[in-house]
Amino acid sequence: MARKLLFVAQLLLLPFLLRTAAARRGGITVYWGQNGNEGTLAETCATGRFSYVNIAFLYIFGGGQTPRLNLAGHCDPSTSGSCSSVGDGIRACQRRGIKAFLSIGGGVGNYSLSSREDARNLSVYLWQTFLGGGRRNSTSRPLGSAVLDGVDLDIELGSSLYYDDLVRFLKSYSRYGRRVFVTGAPQCPFPDRLLGEALKTSLFDFVWVQFYNNPPCQYSSGNIDDLVNSWRVWTSSVNARRIFLGLPAAPEAAGSGFIPPDVLTGQILPLIKRSPKYGGVMLWSKYWDDQSGYSTSIVGRV
Ligand SMILES: *[C@@H]1O[C@H](CO)[C@@H](O)[C@H](O)[C@H]1NC(C)=O
Ligand SMILES: *[C@@H]1O[C@H](CO)[C@@H](O)[C@H](O)[C@H]1NC(C)=O
Ligand SMILES: *[C@@H]1O[C@H](CO)[C@@H](O)[C@H](O)[C@H]1NC(C)=O
Repeated sequence: MARKLLFVAQLLLLPFLLRTAAARRGGITVYWGQNGNEGTLAETCATGRFSYVNIAFLYIFGGGQTPRLNLAGHCDPSTSGSCSSVGDGIRACQRRGIKAFLSIGGGVGNYSLSSREDARNLSVYLWQTFLGGGRRNSTSRPLGSAVLDGVDLDIELGSSLYYDDLVRFLKSYSRYGRRVFVTGAPQCPFPDRLLGEALKTSLFDFVWVQFYNNPPCQYSSGNIDDLVNSWRVWTSSVNARRIFLGLPAAPEAAGSGFIPPDVLTGQILPLIKRSPKYGGVMLWSKYWDDQSGYSTSIVGRV
């Protein structure tokens, strides 16, 4: 009888125990757009493994330049209608509860903000072309009427100036009813040379720190200490809703910093999940993830 009662008590407790574990679970963010052989956006979201997708990249902007989107072999954004399937993909992702962001910047491009007014103009352009502003049927919306959930800053070139203004302008559009997310992908040396000032606004929703291509703050051959110490600096210094561990999805996806999946799930995630700001793992990129199967190996443990 007593054993039976104990069993019943455990059964009653089970949902609470599961919920506590679930609350600590994160999601996987993936960059999509820089390789035509990585499946469509809709296929990416249909895998069920990702919580957020960053559509990469708006690689020319600022200094009065007409901004330009590049989606590699997926479609030609300068040809009207060519990228409408990406718009359909955005809606397909959002129907599954997956948020889609436009990533601006990247490793190749021509971008820099020349003034506060330049930042304001870019924010107006982003609002009218990719977010909830402007006419949905406007021919100047390369992804059609789909409304993205926000903007990701992957600033790797040019100057650090005025991105704090850009973030404030973008966030201010949330006043029209739908939250505009702002996310960022700084490099792991702290503070980030290009995004450091913008991060000080404390307005970022998600920050996926790139723990790669930077040996002093990444995993290297069996040593997890530099990475874990850097994670602690980021999570204790940056005021954002969630911080993610940004990683290459395959050894060839970055110059250095690849973490074997068993090291990640067995040694690193248990440590970094202790942070209340832990949001999950960001992967560069969908193409490399397809080659390695990385997200499949880790998804149950993120
Ligand atoms: C910002 O946009 C306005 C209106 O289109 C334009 O007159 C101005 O030159 C732009 N400023 C910059 C810095 O490009
Ligand atoms: C980058 O943009 C600036 C400002 O528009 C321009 O002067 C420069 O020629 C561009 N550089 C390249 C490599 O396209
Ligand atoms: C877009 O929609 C508006 C309002 O519904 C309409 O007046 C306009 O003619 C449409 N423009 C195009 C290019 O379809």
